[in-house]
Amino acid sequence: MKNIVVLVSGGGTNLQALIDAEKSGIIRGGKITCVISSKENAYALERAKQNDIPSKVIPRKAYSDSKSYSEAILAALNEEKADLVVLAGFMTILDECVTKAYAYKIINVHPALIPSFCGEGFYGLKVHEAALAYGVKVSGATIHFVNEKADAGAIILQGTVNVEKDDTPEILQRRIMENVEWKLLPEAVSLFCQDRIEISDGKAYVIK
Ligand code: GAR
Repeated sequence: MKNIVVLVSGGGTNLQALIDAEKSGIIRGGKITCVISSKENAYALERAKQNDIPSKVIPRKAYSDSKSYSEAILAALNEEKADLVVLAGFMTILDECVTKAYAYKIINVHPALIPSFCGEGFYGLKVHEAALAYGVKVSGATIHFVNEKADAGAIILQGTVNVEKDDTPEILQRRIMENVEWKLLPEAVSLFCQDRIEISDGKAYVIK
């Protein structure tokens, strides 16, 4: 069984999707052993509590820079003996001390089709505002490994939705969450836990 540590900052609907998937047997070979939040008032912490999952708060605001914050996260991941780290709406970019120590062991969900609308500054509703402002006709979400550059690691899975004329950022966000994020994040986690993701030439491939 692989130890899955989930990092969160907000509402935690993706964490909930992972919890539900673990309960229903969709996630094979892994168990959520800890939830770590960068914010003490994140509702995701309540979801962890309701499901008897141990949690920790490591507040971003208590650290002066990204390096010292990342060192604290690294220490917690080591303590938890994490085999897989999932960034599920985690709104802080991790320094390379974490991404190098956990290379190809950190998975992120990004609410757009990378390489569009991604990188520093593109998070949460801002991503959907940018997609609507551009006028794209499809959007979606990307599940990818995390490396030293924001949203630039190997892509594992992507899924799409149509963008409709009257969409608001909130409506588009919800459609992408329901149809893509909440399905593909648990699927990618399950694939990882079954050792069914292969890396070749810096790219990720699912082993059928
Ligand atoms: C999700 O849409 C996730 O893809 C996005 O924030 C939301 C978190 O929702 N993540 C990013 O923008 C990371 N760059 P949740 O807390 O309900 O899972």
